[in-house]
Amino acid sequence: MKCILVTGGCGFIGSNFVRLLLRALPESRVVNLDKLTYAGNPASLKDVERDPRYKFVQGDICDQDLVAKLFADEQISTVVHFAAESHVDRSISGPAEFIRTNITGTFTLLEAARASWLNHESPATHHPSRFLHVSTDEVYGSLGDTGLFTETTPYDPRSPYSASKASSDHLVSAYHHTYGLPTLMTNCSNNYGPYHFPEKLIPLIINNALGGKDLPVYGDGKNVRDWLYVLDHCAAILTVLQKGEVGQTYNVGGNNEKQNIEIVQTVCDILDQKVGLLPSGQPRRSLIKFVKDRPGHDRRYAIDASKIKNELGWEPSVTFEEGILKTIDWYLENPEWVASVVDGSYQAYYQKMYGGR
Ligand code: NAD
Ligand code: TYD
Repeated sequence: MKCILVTGGCGFIGSNFVRLLLRALPESRVVNLDKLTYAGNPASLKDVERDPRYKFVQGDICDQDLVAKLFADEQISTVVHFAAESHVDRSISGPAEFIRTNITGTFTLLEAARASWLNHESPATHHPSRFLHVSTDEVYGSLGDTGLFTETTPYDPRSPYSASKASSDHLVSAYHHTYGLPTLMTNCSNNYGPYHFPEKLIPLIINNALGGKDLPVYGDGKNVRDWLYVLDHCAAILTVLQKGEVGQTYNVGGNNEKQNIEIVQTVCDILDQKVGLLPSGQPRRSLIKFVKDRPGHDRRYAIDASKIKNELGWEPSVTFEEGILKTIDWYLENPEWVASVVDGSYQAYYQKMYGGR
């Protein structure tokens, strides 16, 4: 059986992707390597943990010996690499872990793949190999009021997070061009959906709005992001894995640009309708609080996703209006998942990031 290594499979996008893989590729095994940082939650894959085709390994992608052993023991022929430190605000207050995991971790995986797949005397697996690196549109920097990021937009990362992702993207390209490693890359816009950790805008707003807490909006609230439902991103990754051309990059987006304030207002209005107004009788929009801006806050991201549409036939299946309703329903139906991730360390994080802001 073909064995696919997914890194960071206990995170937001990774857990949704592991579930999709097990369903979509019944002839494959999946090994999930995840360190279980604050962002990793095995409960996000509770429904598949007994599947004999699924194996969880707790470990660090920077651990050379562990990664090499996994390639050999599990006959890994495909890597889908999600594991990363992923939150811009955390990268501003503590960049070191972003450099370690995002750059050194990607390097460690590339080296293991090179040693395992390009050693023609004793290849570890007879399946064709592929290394898909999951990246972000943030590597392209910040747009003004017009324009879209294409695959040829020059890199201009502006936060420690996006700079560390850009570095890892360059390493992936270099391994393709220099060694012929069969790599693929996706650069996607902001995701939202089930199992999203409530440090990111949409799940944080849902959680706070349900609890009657302040809804912190950075700066003037007019920064723009392109939002994509997470299962559409997962479908795009699977499409690139199966049909993408080795050495290529594919931009993935939702054709759905929104200002942050619009997102927050939409979440407030849907929750008012679904669970009623606040106990005070006020609508949830009354909780909106404009707070001090993020340093270096990128103004606008927007993706031109025509390459993946024209060449591979992928496009989003869910509109934002449908996706946000599904997402809010999921959070209403899964309060125990939220309670399990909003633990002591989250409270300390929240106090540090928002206390007195
Ligand atoms: P996440 O923060 O929810 O999950 C990251 C996962 O990686 C966690 O399970 C964590 O435990 C694991 N991890 C962290 N450091 C590790 C290490 N050293 N070794 C092994 N595992 C480690 O992230 P996400 O939002 O699911 O993003 C996944 C990937 O997709 C990232 O590479 C991110 O840059 C990229 N991406 C995210 C978005 C988005 O909107 N969330 C958009 C585009 C691209
Ligand atoms: P985020 O979800 O952190 O994603 P990213 O920074 O990777 O785009 O933030 C999305 C947008 O929402 C971004 O412009 C910052 C803004 N934001 C807030 O206004 N308030 C918040 O509490 C958070 C977490 C984000």
